[in-house]
Amino acid sequence: MSGKFITFEGPEGSGKSTQIKLLSEKLADRGIKVLCTREPGGTATGEAIRNILQHDAVDEPLSERAELLLFTASRAQLMDRVILPALDQGEWVVCDRFIDSTMAYQGFARGMDIDTLDRINDFANNSRKPDLTLLLDLDIEQGFQRLEERYSGGKGSADRFEREGRDFHLRVREGYRKLAEREPERFCIIDAEQSIEEVAVNVWSSIKEVLL
Ligand code: TMP
Repeated sequence: MSGKFITFEGPEGSGKSTQIKLLSEKLADRGIKVLCTREPGGTATGEAIRNILQHDAVDEPLSERAELLLFTASRAQLMDRVILPALDQGEWVVCDRFIDSTMAYQGFARGMDIDTLDRINDFANNSRKPDLTLLLDLDIEQGFQRLEERYSGGKGSADRFEREGRDFHLRVREGYRKLAEREPERFCIIDAEQSIEEVAVNVWSSIKEVLL
């Protein structure tokens, strides 16, 4: 039997990685084999692509189409080499970002054509959509504040997307909400302004309700 495919989406600073860790521990406690991965990345090829996309590895501005195709190339590799084989083995897969990041960032925030992105996404993910997408929704000012806290004290530095202005991030947030409206049966929206524990409780009840 195929495993379940869960994705986490949300703006910068919404706490996805913390929640993915907590969820995977809970699933493992129930004896469910879980594979956690992320986008862009999750394979050697994908991590090399991530480096280009996030850290200006190449000394020239990326064109919007090149950016889109790099994200989706990373996705195709992750899908074919990691996610689909794991699901086929009955494992559950939890992925930090997936097709909806492309729609929110390249589509709603950069303004690329939504229908074109739908088609490219469908090709890249081999038409396999997540069974459940948890959208950690957060006010953008809160997100910026969390990032400032993360980077003050010299712990890393903001990446190409984190350096985008407030308008860009507002469009990302609104875009995510539109995507959730478009597919209410796949999405659960969770208020990420709550404490880590409260968010984890909401994540778990969505999982139980929809997948267990
Ligand atoms: P993160 O994994 O640290 O959140 O960083 C990934 C960044 O890449 C984040 O700013 C969102 C962005 N992104 C896109 O613009 N399009 C995509 O398809 C994906 C997967 C991520």
